[in-house]
Amino acid sequence: MTVAVVGLGYVGLPTALGCWRAGASIIGLDSSAQRLHDIRTGAVDLLPDQHATLACARAGAAIGDGFLLTSDAGALRRADAVVICVPTPVTADQEPDPAALRAACACVVDHAVADQLIVLTSTSQVGTTRALLLEPLAARGLVAEENVLVAFAPERIDPGNERHRQEDTPRIVGGAGPRSSRAAARLLASTASSVHQVADPETAEMAKLWENVFRAVNIALANELSDACLHLGVPPLAVIEAAASKPYGFMPFFPGPGAGGHCIPCDPYYLLGQLPVQSGAAPAASTAAPVLSTAMAALRDRPVRVARLAAEALQRSGVAVPGARVLVLGVAYKEGVSDVRESPALRILALLAAQGAEVAYSDPRVPTVTVDGVVLGSVPEPGALPWDLVIVHTAHPGWDLSWLDAVPGPRVLDTRFRRAWPAPVAVP
Ligand SMILES: NC(=O)c1ccc[n+]([C@@H]2O[C@H](COP(=O)([O-])OP(=O)(O)OC[C@H]3O[C@@H](n4cnc5c(N)ncnc54)[C@H](O)[C@@H]3O)[C@@H](O)[C@H]2O)c1
Repeated sequence: MTVAVVGLGYVGLPTALGCWRAGASIIGLDSSAQRLHDIRTGAVDLLPDQHATLACARAGAAIGDGFLLTSDAGALRRADAVVICVPTPVTADQEPDPAALRAACACVVDHAVADQLIVLTSTSQVGTTRALLLEPLAARGLVAEENVLVAFAPERIDPGNERHRQEDTPRIVGGAGPRSSRAAARLLASTASSVHQVADPETAEMAKLWENVFRAVNIALANELSDACLHLGVPPLAVIEAAASKPYGFMPFFPGPGAGGHCIPCDPYYLLGQLPVQSGAAPAASTAAPVLSTAMAALRDRPVRVARLAAEALQRSGVAVPGARVLVLGVAYKEGVSDVRESPALRILALLAAQGAEVAYSDPRVPTVTVDGVVLGSVPEPGALPWDLVIVHTAHPGWDLSWLDAVPGPRVLDTRFRRAWPAPVAVP
């Protein structure tokens, strides 16, 4: 079959490669010429075997009939199935920004043909599949379950994670009806370990939001309780390890510098945006979900806490923040990727720079970042330079940080608590 994938990012590209490896012919549609260029040159974040598959596809050693990269939406008419994987970010005010999603769905609806299967995978608000696909398709005479098949199947991929790969992870599918669910399950079976079918798209949409709300709240809690450990002089990771020995009712989450990437800092706001708010209050402060609202505010403020602890650590070493040489190690939002979207590192760098520190960073996967309009380049050999403070943010796999062992303990602040944190001067 011919599968079109709309949006070839962290989700869409591995999905297209998985379908191609399973024997489908691929139409890869992306609105960004830069992204298509990066895919053609292989300059993209993928696991090693996905890189190998991409190299085969680019070399024309096709398993399916081909692997087309295009920005011509007209190609969608030739597809048996269309999978939509476009971004669903938030605005600077934490409002859902569904512009890309609306544009992609409108484009897919415009080019839809009878008997096509359309699967939306982008994390979305409850009701999105109905509003942006089922209803406009019906207005064009394409009625789900009759002459078109439509489903929502949220993506769970964890880019850069070799242990939990896309094809080893179960997939939720919620079709407009049984025919749609079955067809979507068949299509996605090659990119998942199993398929969990639910009654309708809305259940699948809410399941994805629930999953990421669960993670956001628990990460915020892990940060909070780790700070409590710090206050009490108990090592947080040893406590988490001990608690995780309970075989039921506990799942370990780990502290860090905040939450980054395209999921945890964004998805919960899609739910909050659908819930009642106090009149005059920001949507992010929903009265219907105070626990979630508080957790998201805590995650947003976590880099402020890290910057404050950095200032305290400098003070303890007798170094004033203005003029202090501060290095942030790893600016990608997590290990194994070059993605700096919503990365707490950028905010930590900006906060310390605003206080007059001479900030720098090192990250083998991120050549440059822009912090408050200033472009910084990655320091290639950070171990060769003297630093007043090193903040460990993201330690990529295989990155040799053994030089840190020679840095005096008080000059290292590990946001993940894997090295001992100095006791704070004052606990807020
Ligand atoms: N990144 C993750 O770890 C992850 C994990 C699970 C789910 N998701 C969800 O998957 C969705 C996609 O996320 P992502 O990280 O792959 O995004 P991404 O930004 O990496 O990729 C999206 C791609 O879509 C393209 N695009 C945007 N608008 C388009 C349009 N109208 N037509 C064609 N192409 C268009 C962009 O150019 C980009 O290449 C989001 O809803 C996200 O929440 C992401």
